[in-house]
Amino acid sequence: MPTNDTDLVLEAKGLKKSFGGNAVLKGVDLALRRGEVVLLQGANGSGKTTLLNILTGNLKPDGGSMHRHEPLGRTWQDVRLFATQTLADNIAMAKPKQFGEEPLKAVFAAWKSRSEERLNEAETAEILKRMGLAERAAVPGADAKIAEAKFAAMVRALRAGAKVLFLDEPLAGLDHAEIDAVIETLRTLVKEHGLTLVIIEHALNIPKVLRIATTIWTLKNGLLTAGAPDTADEAGDGELHSWLESLAIDGALDEIDLPGGAHLTIAARRKDAPAVFELTGCKVSRGARPVIAEPISFILKEGDLAVLEAPNGWGKSTLLETIAGLIPTAEGRITLFGADVTAIPVWKRAHMGLRLNRAAGNLFTQATVRENARLNHVAEPLLPNLADRKAGTLSGGESRRLSFEAVLNNPEAKILMLDEPFQALDITESARVRRSLSNCNKTILVTVPKGEEGNE
Ligand SMILES: Nc1ncnc2c1ncn2[C@@H]1O[C@H](COP(=O)(O)OP(=O)(O)OP(=O)(O)O)[C@@H](O)[C@H]1O
Ligand SMILES: [Mg+2]
Repeated sequence: MPTNDTDLVLEAKGLKKSFGGNAVLKGVDLALRRGEVVLLQGANGSGKTTLLNILTGNLKPDGGSMHRHEPLGRTWQDVRLFATQTLADNIAMAKPKQFGEEPLKAVFAAWKSRSEERLNEAETAEILKRMGLAERAAVPGADAKIAEAKFAAMVRALRAGAKVLFLDEPLAGLDHAEIDAVIETLRTLVKEHGLTLVIIEHALNIPKVLRIATTIWTLKNGLLTAGAPDTADEAGDGELHSWLESLAIDGALDEIDLPGGAHLTIAARRKDAPAVFELTGCKVSRGARPVIAEPISFILKEGDLAVLEAPNGWGKSTLLETIAGLIPTAEGRITLFGADVTAIPVWKRAHMGLRLNRAAGNLFTQATVRENARLNHVAEPLLPNLADRKAGTLSGGESRRLSFEAVLNNPEAKILMLDEPFQALDITESARVRRSLSNCNKTILVTVPKGEEGNE
């Protein structure tokens, strides 16, 4: 029962939601008070996004009641900015009821609209400055880094008047320094602007959210329980290396420093295995823009499991796309099974067994889970109890798992490149991914965000 009703910003009782016969929310009760910072946790598929969609009015519940006492805003996991507008304009345009938006007034009282515009510009500049992004103001949305786009999306929701902010995986895909910056910004927003936050995060990032969380909501079996946060230790990075050591013959790892603060760790899993993949002096660009300007070289032998750790913005995904043949190689040579493939098209490389699994967009969303498995030459449905569901209706974690298992089990895939396979997974799922990687004897290159703080 609320102790002080004037502090309530949102309350809900008995929220229910089913999809087909699958009851996801079975009567969720909750109360949210001003200044609270809630961590919403629960296994993949437990209904977190569904609950957020209902609370923010983006999805109708089947039953229950809800009262919103303050304006709500939200950010989505896949942030989109207006690509051709600058970062500053992306933020400035979020201010509602700008005078200049009414065409007649803008013409007849241009002076007024202009002075408002100047005020808005000044406010935007101040916001960017406070977020340490002053010198990035003129960067087009398309070139903004993930972290910058996430900042802009949060600021936009706030400028649109939100007092309660729902954030779906705000830390996903950020490196440690960026995570710290987001957490500190959130802390300031709560303290100085009396904001209330509900944050969805997954295993890896939960300790970071616990630095500011006042309340934990846990979704399990369709019900929500609220509790106080435990103080937990932040996950160490040593863990990744001890896992790799446990896989390598004689526990010996190959450690290679790459330009720009990136690091490659290779666990060799077969004695006297032949080299199957070689990158020699490769530079990477997107169009005319150099992404990795210093040459990169490394060799993978059959059965190797390699982990590429690199800070965000380094060009991990661009490098994988270049190797796959989706982007032309700016300089250097790529060799597959002894053959130079630098100039051959993507489908021929795929035919030779080289497969890329990206962070998203690997599935046919209109096809069922079973059909997606078959398209990868896998006869068994990969998520048996979801076999007849359309892939597009899976939760974030479920679709990652399907696309990941599909490429791992595809008999035609021999050299796998997996872009951030641990992103957005709960502890059980991360462990499952590790187990699948441990059990798969193909040659595998995995990317993860760089783990060390202040590593320059
Ligand atoms: N449109 C839909 N049609 C059918 N089932 C759905 C639909 N949307 C979600 N579901 C199912 O509802 C359950 C909850 O999904 P939801 O996306 O809310 O989970 P989540 O907790 O956000 O998971 P994740 O951590 O993987 O993002 C899942 O089993 C999902 O497959
Ligand atoms: Mg989700």
